[in-house]
Amino acid sequence: MTAMARKRTAVLISGRGSNMAALIEAAADPAYPAEIALVLSNVADAGGLAIATSKGIKTETVDHKTFGKDRDAFETAVQKALDASRIDFVCLAGFMRLLTPAFVQRWHGRMLNIHPALLPAFKGLDTHERALAEGVKIHGATVHFVVPEMDSGPIIAQAAVSVLSKDTPASLAARVIQMEHRIYPLALRWLAEGKLKIDGNRCVVQGAPDIDGVLVSPSNLRLS
Ligand code: GRF
Repeated sequence: MTAMARKRTAVLISGRGSNMAALIEAAADPAYPAEIALVLSNVADAGGLAIATSKGIKTETVDHKTFGKDRDAFETAVQKALDASRIDFVCLAGFMRLLTPAFVQRWHGRMLNIHPALLPAFKGLDTHERALAEGVKIHGATVHFVVPEMDSGPIIAQAAVSVLSKDTPASLAARVIQMEHRIYPLALRWLAEGKLKIDGNRCVVQGAPDIDGVLVSPSNLRLS
């Protein structure tokens, strides 16, 4: 039996790259169905680039500033880099550029994003500050397919944490990011295994454990 080729995946970053690092770590297992073939940044000194290099991953910078307001030219350069590395899937991981509908369409069903909130709540920036300001008791993270509308698209996986009365945006972010690092590798695994079926705005994860789970907050109930 021949082993299935691992799916060549690019991670697009703009900053520290902790989700990128989680994906690289997951893909270090030869049994993982995707390999990180490229890390691409729009920021030359993004911290994640050094991490990727230290792990032996190919990196590239396409600095959006050199293209001025010409988004198409920027995206053409990004697409060229993806083509050169024969990329199957794209994972946005703290990539702080909005992508044009044409680019998003080209990667339809093949491009994921991670967002630090339980979508569709708290789209956009400063999610942890806003969650605290709204007084929500449960917050979390979402991995979803990318569609032209920002922070929308079929949801693949979510993870929730309790919001604690003493939380600051930083303390809440610290717990949410740990969840991000767990669900992003899961979602990419499912994508690479061909288990994700898009049905309108919904995503069905075929063969995923359909296990009932509860989180009550605030509570000292032990429900499991
Ligand atoms: C994460 O919180 C992610 O959800 C959001 O941007 C942040 C990137 O963090 N899209 P990192 O660069 O992966 O550490």
